[in-house]
Amino acid sequence: MADHQLLGGYNSFTSRKQLTRCRQNPNFRVDQLQSEIARRRAFAIIAHPDAGKTTLTEKLLLYGGAIHLAGHVRARKERRATRSDFMALEQERGISVSTAALQFEYDGLVMNLLDTPGHQDFSEDTYRTLMAVDSAIMLLDAARGVEPQTIKLFHICRERNLPIITFINKMDLPALEPFALLDNVEKVLGISAVPLVWPLGSGRDFKGFFNLREKTVHRFERTVGGAQRAPETVSGIDDPTLRQILGEAEYHKFCEDITLLTEVLPPFDPEKFLRGTMTPVIFGSAITNFGVDYLLKQLKTLAPPPRPLFLDDGSLLSPTEPRFTGFVFKLQANMNKLHRDRVAFVRITSGRFERGMSVQLPRLKKEVKLASSVAFFGEERNTIDEAYAGDIIGIISPGLYRLGDILCQGDAPALKPLPRFAPEIFARIVLEDTSKAKQFRKGIAELTDEGVVQLFNLSDASPIIGAVGQLQLDVFRYRMADEYGAPVRLENLPYACSRWIAATDITKAGRFDKIVYDDQNRPVILFESTFRLRSFSEEHPEVVLHNHPPD
Ligand code: G4P
Repeated sequence: MADHQLLGGYNSFTSRKQLTRCRQNPNFRVDQLQSEIARRRAFAIIAHPDAGKTTLTEKLLLYGGAIHLAGHVRARKERRATRSDFMALEQERGISVSTAALQFEYDGLVMNLLDTPGHQDFSEDTYRTLMAVDSAIMLLDAARGVEPQTIKLFHICRERNLPIITFINKMDLPALEPFALLDNVEKVLGISAVPLVWPLGSGRDFKGFFNLREKTVHRFERTVGGAQRAPETVSGIDDPTLRQILGEAEYHKFCEDITLLTEVLPPFDPEKFLRGTMTPVIFGSAITNFGVDYLLKQLKTLAPPPRPLFLDDGSLLSPTEPRFTGFVFKLQANMNKLHRDRVAFVRITSGRFERGMSVQLPRLKKEVKLASSVAFFGEERNTIDEAYAGDIIGIISPGLYRLGDILCQGDAPALKPLPRFAPEIFARIVLEDTSKAKQFRKGIAELTDEGVVQLFNLSDASPIIGAVGQLQLDVFRYRMADEYGAPVRLENLPYACSRWIAATDITKAGRFDKIVYDDQNRPVILFESTFRLRSFSEEHPEVVLHNHPPD
């Protein structure tokens, strides 16, 4: 069977017979709903670029049985990188774009791994993706510890109290001391870090790990290029060969570490983990596959199934509530140039999805039929017949949906709106070739709907776009030319921050650097520096400035 068939697993546990049984027997359906949802895990990997996210993703697929030989995803990434002279962009659009969510089955669980764009620059897309998961793997480079991008992503997870499993990668290369790494996580991120395993050696002599809970020694053998599962030998701590394998000095250090850990290590507390205040730590090496299987096992036992959501009206939405609800967290146009369509990625928050079902789209007060539902692997699409809370589905439509849209059976749940951020970089868009005005307008409309950038003064001939990271602007410019055939010039504007302001407050505000209007015609003040923003706030305490668009 082809790899992608295994990956497009939404339909793998759905047969027509099963569906008919569900419809005929409501009791069976409730049971099935609960057990299907209980086996869902939706998670993302957060990492600083180069920590090994692509490599780990692929190894999770290898150990999850979704691919049989590693090298596939990397090779794709490389092909894309070498094919283009715009490498950062192509990498950004590599696996992230075509596979917003990968699904694979592991030991009875349905794993939904959401891809967070892995570029240096921060983008709003990442925030939105993290709104659609129930837990995260924080991937660190063992030689670098916590890096700037890790900190930003960690804080988003913290805002959502997401449980985080830490995987310290590249232990096969010269690494920082394990105690120093734990200390680094605790000090920089302010989360208690509890190792579940302790590395056996490091660098070229990295042999595996000691399982601190089971008190077992796990030794691995490398396979050529890490393409296949690494053979693993499990023994007790009294294994006489351990001394020999580690060498005298390393063995003594290991014994000392274990004694120290036994004395000082706080017990791992699953409650604290679920609240996002404690992170279990695994030391491993994605490239040699050491620790990947253990990471998957921990995901299975520790990562939570879909959690009830606290709604804005104070009520709770249980994932097992039978009615279907979900929200659009990502939009992507032109995923396939042949199709020229748009895909809305929906995180299901409750109930069960069935292809062809009719649901409400409250923003438009309209009923829509969800007929074209797909999962992606690379360029290929697989139809999804059925999915459950915790799953991600792609809905193809010609531009009906917006970011943050709710889809539901019955009344709309009061889901918290997707966050939108006050942009920090601004540019005026100038169309290079005025004969492309139609394509220009279409491109701007679709890309701003997708949330690639935010649009201001849209009725101007040269509107303004804003973003929180430079790469968002680069992606916009690239896609306007590549996908819409409307090359644009971006003229940078000298503003460094922005705030929404109530229309009624404008007259109170006196002088300010610049005012623009967002896509809903809400006024936004642009400031040349955070210093000017601060002095404005001090001079006008009566004016309320908003970091997010006011309701
Ligand atoms: P990213 O998606 O987080 O940006 O990282 P990616 O997986 O692309 O990995 C970045 C580099 O780190 C790659 O090397 C990759 O092979 C290497 N790497 C990932 N995990 C490990 C590990 O556990 N041990 C070691 N030693 N290296 C690891 P590269 O030189 O950029 O690419 P390649 O030539 O190896 O393919």
